[in-house]
Amino acid sequence: MKPQMRNLNLFLFLLLSLHFISVLSWKREEFRNCNQTPFCKRARARKPGSCSLLARHVIISDGDVTAKLLPKNHETSEDHHEINPLLLTLSLYQDGVLRLKIDEDPSLGPPKKRFEVPDVIVPEFSNNKLWLQRISTETIDGDTGPSSIVHLADGYEAVLRHDPFEVYVREKGSGNRVISLNSHGLFDFEPLTAKGEGEEWEESFRENTDTRPYGPQSISFDVSFYAADFVYGIPEHATSLALKPTRGPGVEYSEPYRLFNLDVFEYIHDSPFGIYGSIPFMISHGKSRGTSGFFWLNAAEMQIDVMGAGWDADSGISLPSEKTRIDTFWMSEAGIVDAFFFVGPGPKDVVRQYMSVTGMPAMPQLFATAYHQCRWNYRDEEDVEDVDSKFDEHNIPYDVLWLDIEHTDGKRYFTWDRMLFPHPEEMQRKLAAKGRHMVTIVDPHIKRDDSYNVHKEATKKGYYVKDASGNDFDGWCWSGSSSYPDMLNPEIRSWWADRFSFEHYVGSTPSLYIWNDMNEPSVFNGPELTMPRDALHYGDVEHRELHNAYGYYFHMATANGLVKRGEGKDRPFVLSRALFAGSQRHGAVWTGDNSAEWDHLRVSVPMVLTLGLTGLPFSGADVGGFFGNPEPELLVRWYQLGAYYPFFRAHAHHDTKRREPWLFGERNTELIRDAIHVRYTLIPYFYTLFREANTSGVPVVRPLWMEFPSEEATFSNDEAFMVGNSILVQGIYTERAKVASVYLPGRQSWYDLRTGTSYRGGMTHKLTVSEDTIPAFQRAGTIIPRKDRFRRSSTQMVNDPFTLVIALNSSQAAEGELYVDDGKSFEFEHGAYIHRRFVLSDGKLTSVNLAPASSGKSRFSSETVIERIILLGHTHSPKSALIEVTNQKVDIGLGPLWLQWGRGSAVVTVRKPGIRIADDWTIKFL
Ligand code: GLC
Repeated sequence: MKPQMRNLNLFLFLLLSLHFISVLSWKREEFRNCNQTPFCKRARARKPGSCSLLARHVIISDGDVTAKLLPKNHETSEDHHEINPLLLTLSLYQDGVLRLKIDEDPSLGPPKKRFEVPDVIVPEFSNNKLWLQRISTETIDGDTGPSSIVHLADGYEAVLRHDPFEVYVREKGSGNRVISLNSHGLFDFEPLTAKGEGEEWEESFRENTDTRPYGPQSISFDVSFYAADFVYGIPEHATSLALKPTRGPGVEYSEPYRLFNLDVFEYIHDSPFGIYGSIPFMISHGKSRGTSGFFWLNAAEMQIDVMGAGWDADSGISLPSEKTRIDTFWMSEAGIVDAFFFVGPGPKDVVRQYMSVTGMPAMPQLFATAYHQCRWNYRDEEDVEDVDSKFDEHNIPYDVLWLDIEHTDGKRYFTWDRMLFPHPEEMQRKLAAKGRHMVTIVDPHIKRDDSYNVHKEATKKGYYVKDASGNDFDGWCWSGSSSYPDMLNPEIRSWWADRFSFEHYVGSTPSLYIWNDMNEPSVFNGPELTMPRDALHYGDVEHRELHNAYGYYFHMATANGLVKRGEGKDRPFVLSRALFAGSQRHGAVWTGDNSAEWDHLRVSVPMVLTLGLTGLPFSGADVGGFFGNPEPELLVRWYQLGAYYPFFRAHAHHDTKRREPWLFGERNTELIRDAIHVRYTLIPYFYTLFREANTSGVPVVRPLWMEFPSEEATFSNDEAFMVGNSILVQGIYTERAKVASVYLPGRQSWYDLRTGTSYRGGMTHKLTVSEDTIPAFQRAGTIIPRKDRFRRSSTQMVNDPFTLVIALNSSQAAEGELYVDDGKSFEFEHGAYIHRRFVLSDGKLTSVNLAPASSGKSRFSSETVIERIILLGHTHSPKSALIEVTNQKVDIGLGPLWLQWGRGSAVVTVRKPGIRIADDWTIKFL
């Protein structure tokens, strides 16, 4: 590059950076609304009943139902284009999953093959396919024409109505509908066509023009959920858990929920505007039937309306179950219809069904479930050492120290600023000696600098995304002029993965893990701060078709890189900002650049819960808020809540004041220490929940209604949440709060986690709030494994003994689980783990093995013992306990609920039972 050019680039970059620094809040005008998005505007203008497609030639082919969709008058369409039929395929899968595909017929030569997102559906899913043999045709009550009906699952049928075309799932027997598509006749599929004379396809927004070489190609349709009180899901938005209506009289939001991965500077806390990630999966829940779900696998921009009551007042269409039906309207700019219907009927069933398609969440390493300390930026090695030692001085455990972009040599990822970080290996080794890890950031924008080997190689090999004219796309990001590896191409992903080898990533060691940011991708000078839609990927896929999945592929390639680096032995840890359906297989995500405001603290809960419901159990929000300086009270409350996020990390913008836990006076340090300690004591419980997520898809933190599906009072509660099935947490979201109203669901009692005080379930309690904790309760009938000794890091706690906290229910019974493995490798996949169920009933506590009988090849053993058993809610105090295996009597006494803090009213405690967690045993209370 010529020196003048370089100076110009530098100048432009400084200008852009200044622009970014000066932006103080979300700039609405930088982003398109629905009216400025032609496909959205067109779709929203359609009237119910305007779809004139009929299903014809309905047959069984290759075990699927197939049909052709033709307009009533099938020679010409309204606008006199020749109309080719669309191909419809209905496939059935085990566990009540129905898949609907609609695409153009490739044999009729559309100008281009439409994009189907690869690598999201797991290969095993195809094994679940049910091969159809029979189809029955009948005229269903109220219809004028026939429908084709197939058996879907126990108690459910899939129906394809021919005229007008409609697809739905109904209950067998009652005929009650569960979910339907195109019941309002809003289906529309814009076929790819040759450009007509005088037709204008380009679209402009602000200073950017999208050439749109293939013209309009959007798809839209209505989906209705029956017996539904609320709908949830479709992250990522900063909004309530139960989705608010966006269309109809008097609705609060006038924009649809947007799914378009964007780097939104200072996003606001109550908006349907799309932020960093997109999962087009919606869940409905209602008291009368339960839960159902709908997922549209499509990576183009999507907009989704939730219709409010009366939106269709004059449509003339009448559907069954009027009162409890929720209508929604889905619009996408490109791609095909590849949609999945899930019948539930319980919330956990729907999540499992969705995950049979997109895969179970990865099992994290143990350390990743502990506390992470981050800031933009820890300046240099001295700063790192200082922060690290201060945690020890203040007796606060932490597991991971993070380095943001400034640690690199000029934002060239995989490098170090050697002035600031001259000895990266030694720095990591020092942390590792305390059982701690380091995470560095690696973003997808590669600095266009000919002396940077990653850029050199990517250029030489032709690995970058191309612009509309076929040149390497060049955009601005942290590194100035940058290009972006084309992560859709498996060969490029594999090359990217190799960048993480110790040989290529000089200065990295086995205790270093990765943070992927800006992978929407963020392009400072691009339309809406992202890549132009007409940029080109592998296989001539347009960026518009793939956009929402770009970050997913980047996350995948990085996680694969860490697996490769460790020769397949160690589980990776990669945090990603952008996300898509299936991201759960690659690692953790966080909710991006929030602000140090009470409302952001509050919205973090529905955001994390929604991610969990849609498959991503490992998420959290920046503790403290990224932008701005939190008042100490807000910071403390954030730590108290964040200690229950599945991903628990403090982070802050570089313009904020330093805010490590010890900087706000002794009392606040103590409060933050306590909050972090609570998380560390609960790590065995969290780790067990991560394993549950890994095998069943059920998220680590859950909306209350997931555990109490028939309690209406919980359906729109997003201020409280469950951690697993045993702990209920209520955040405190206001300054100087004196009281909190907490609804405790169910018929059983709840025990204050800190004091052991019991509260009745099924009612709202007005509780006095103190500064030292947010309300949290253990549900009666559960057993929670804890580790109560405080160390420097979770890895140093590995051999520490356990405490079991048993909260008895009204039948004096309780149950809980403990999962333990080596915390690091993939050996657990071969049965190398301990998994116990503890059952207390009839005065006997038994440890039952849940792990498969060991194959002998790959065993995990542990000498770890249980040092304390705490009983809450006993009606008769036992005097002693007899360990039946060893025939040994042990003491029972009274002790505090929290030994180390001496807190909690005296509870019955079995001291030093000394039984190994790996063994079968029974303890009889006498
Ligand atoms: C983005 C990230 C933020 C990070 C910053 C610098 O804003 O969301 O977490 O600190 O970039 O890398």
